Amino acid sequence: MPHSVRHEPTPLDIVKDNNMEGELLGKWAVITGSSSVTGIEIVQALAVTGLRLILPVPNQAKAIVTLGDAYNPNRMEFVTIDHTSLDSVREATKHIVSKTEKISLLVCNETISPSPNLQLTKDGFEVQFATNHLSHFLLFQLLKPELLAASRPRFQSRVIMVACAEHRKHGLNERGNYNFEKGGYDSAIAYAQSKTANVYMANEIERRYGTRGLHAFSTDSGRIIAGASQQDDTESLHSNLQSETGGKGSARGTATAIWGAIGRELESKDVPSRDSEDDLHGTAYAKHTYSPAEEHRLWEDSLDMIGLLDDQ
Ligand SMILES: NC(=O)c1ccc[n+]([C@@H]2O[C@H](COP(=O)([O-])OP(=O)(O)OC[C@H]3O[C@@H](n4cnc5c(N)ncnc54)[C@H](OP(=O)(O)O)[C@@H]3O)[C@@H](O)[C@H]2O)c1
Repeated sequence: MPHSVRHEPTPLDIVKDNNMEGELLGKWAVITGSSSVTGIEIVQALAVTGLRLILPVPNQAKAIVTLGDAYNPNRMEFVTIDHTSLDSVREATKHIVSKTEKISLLVCNETISPSPNLQLTKDGFEVQFATNHLSHFLLFQLLKPELLAASRPRFQSRVIMVACAEHRKHGLNERGNYNFEKGGYDSAIAYAQSKTANVYMANEIERRYGTRGLHAFSTDSGRIIAGASQQDDTESLHSNLQSETGGKGSARGTATAIWGAIGRELESKDVPSRDSEDDLHGTAYAKHTYSPAEEHRLWEDSLDMIGLLDDQ
C-alpha cells in the first residue's frame, strides 16, 4: 500500500480490533436516533458485540424500514419516544426499565432538523436545545440507576454523546437565555449550543460518576449525510452509507462513537490539550469546549428545567 493511503477504521474494525465480537452477550444498550446514518452504523457495529439493543424511535414501522438489514428482531426492541416531549421521554424510560434493571451503554445520537425560525416545544424550550440536550439529559437521569448497576470491572458502563464539530461555533447562552428569550435566534447558534451541551454533559457525567464506573465521552461524526432520516429512498440511504461526502465520512465518523462505547483503554482517559480554535475539524478543542464551571452551570440548570433534584 502506498504511504499516502492510510486505512482509517470503520465501526466494525473497532469492534474486531478490540476483540469485542460476542463479548457483551447478556448486556444491554440503549441507542437513540437509531434510524439516522450514524444510528444505523452504531446499531450494526454494536450488534456484533452481542449487546441487546433497546432503540427508542418516534415511529417503529419507519425505523424497521430504515434500518433494513441492520434490524435483527432477536437482538433489538423498539420503544416509542418523541424527544420533543419530556413526558414522552419519561414514558419511554418506564418501558425501558421494565425490560432490564441493568444498562451498560447509553448512546445519545438523536438530533432534530434545525428550524429556521425560533420554535419552542410544548414544554417551552427551544426545540434543538430541548431534543438534542434536555431530552437526553432526562433520559440519562432516569436511566442512571440502571447504568450504575450494570458497571463491572471487566466492562464499565458508558454514555456516548454524539456531538458535532459545529459546537465550536458557539458555547452556552447565558442563564435565562437558553431558549433565546432575549432574541437573536439563529438556527446555527442553537445547534451549536445544543452540541456544546452534549459535550458538557459527557464531561460532567465523567466528573461525577467516573469513579463509580460510569464513564462518558462525546464524539463527532464528521460531515456525513445530514438529515439522512429525512431521505425517503431507503436504498440510496444504505448505498450512501458506503460513500463519503467529506470530513470523516460516515463509517469513519461513527468509528469514534464505537471506540468510546467499547474501547477498553478509554476507561482511564486524559483530557487532550488545546492549541487552536480555528480548525472546525482539527484535533485540538475550542476554548469553550472544556469548562468545568460552565458544565456545572448547565447541569444544575438542566436539572431545574426537567424538575429533578441533584443527587450530589
Ligand atoms: N449529519 C452530519 O453531518 C453530522 C455531523 C456531525 C455530527 N452529527 C451528529 O450525528 C447524530 C446523527 O445525525 P444525523 O444527521 O445522522 O441525523 P438524522 O439523519 O437527521 O437522523 C435523526 C434521527 O433522530 C430521530 N429523530 C428526529 N426527531 C425525533 C424526535 N422528535 N423524537 C425521536 N426521534 C427523533 C430520527 O428518527 P426518524 O428517522 O424516525 O425521523 C433519526 O433517527 C446527531 O447527534 C448529529 O448532531 C451529524
